[in-house]
Amino acid sequence: MNALRPSTLSDSLYGRVSRVIPPFEWPSFEADIAAILRLKAERNAIILAHNYQSPEIFHCVADVVGDSLALAREAANGDARVIVMAGVHFMAETAKLLNPSKTVLIPDPQAGCSLAESITPDDIGLLRQAYPGVPVVTYVNTSAAVKAASDICCTSANAKKVVESLGAPRVIMIPDEYLARNVAAQTEVEVIAWRGRCEVHEQFTAADIRELREAHPGAIVLAHPECAPEVVAAADFAGSTADMIKYVGARRPARVALVTECSMSDNVAVHYPDLEFVRPCGLCPHMKRITLGKIRHALETLEGEVTIDPIVAGPARRAVERMLAL
Ligand code: 13P
Ligand code: SF4
Repeated sequence: MNALRPSTLSDSLYGRVSRVIPPFEWPSFEADIAAILRLKAERNAIILAHNYQSPEIFHCVADVVGDSLALAREAANGDARVIVMAGVHFMAETAKLLNPSKTVLIPDPQAGCSLAESITPDDIGLLRQAYPGVPVVTYVNTSAAVKAASDICCTSANAKKVVESLGAPRVIMIPDEYLARNVAAQTEVEVIAWRGRCEVHEQFTAADIRELREAHPGAIVLAHPECAPEVVAAADFAGSTADMIKYVGARRPARVALVTECSMSDNVAVHYPDLEFVRPCGLCPHMKRITLGKIRHALETLEGEVTIDPIVAGPARRAVERMLAL
């Protein structure tokens, strides 16, 4: 890709996103994209991008794209010296846990997550006191310190499997109350929840889904399990961001609504010009802190390096690796 002349390169990259980025916007991205592609080669760096990243990042500079589980798995592979996480801070921490000797950069260290903010290691200590002997399953949307206080991690793609893998009649599942309740509805295991919420997905209501179906007859509705259980119940399918993308690829619904972060629809629509995407979406302000300009700056300066206290890193890594081993 780097061997192409700049104009040819730009044309071919714009071809990937022309359905979702208007031509007048493209020139504002070109210089950063060209610099990032050059810097990646110079630094032996790769860019991992979450499914919620903007299309110019997702389709034009990322080496690996996916949901939290896929990014964690990919972070454990490969021989790049530098990993740039085009996602939020907990994703960069997970990449660092799995690659202690590599340089992991987060282009904006303020890119947080309302779920990660909702719980501390001390809260887990109190939960363990209240429920002695009950294992703690921790959503990856948490800090490394919270992971370190947990028995095992999960993502939205494997939460039920992780809960059932423990062979316990009861588990504590933190911090997402809605994910915990959605898992509880699918398993015999008793699930004790925390009160964390995703600030994007908690906005959707069952009434929104009813109105959407009225306004867009025949639309297939896919929801993320961070939505409230009544929203999940009103949807046709619930799953991780990657599971939603797989559903669209396999079933090709003529009209589909992805009840999740806004950029997902743009990123998926690029691959399916024949499908109509209804967009009942919300913006994640944390994901949107990551821009091409900040990715370029991180690669130029190696600023934004993620470090993890070694006392925390060992047990946090064990909780993530236990999940990946399943
Ligand atoms: P996924 O693991 O489904 O990609 O979700 C991550 C996330 O932050 C959703 O809000
Ligand atoms: Fe966190 Fe919600 Fe943003 Fe995902 S969409 S990173 S859960 S705030």
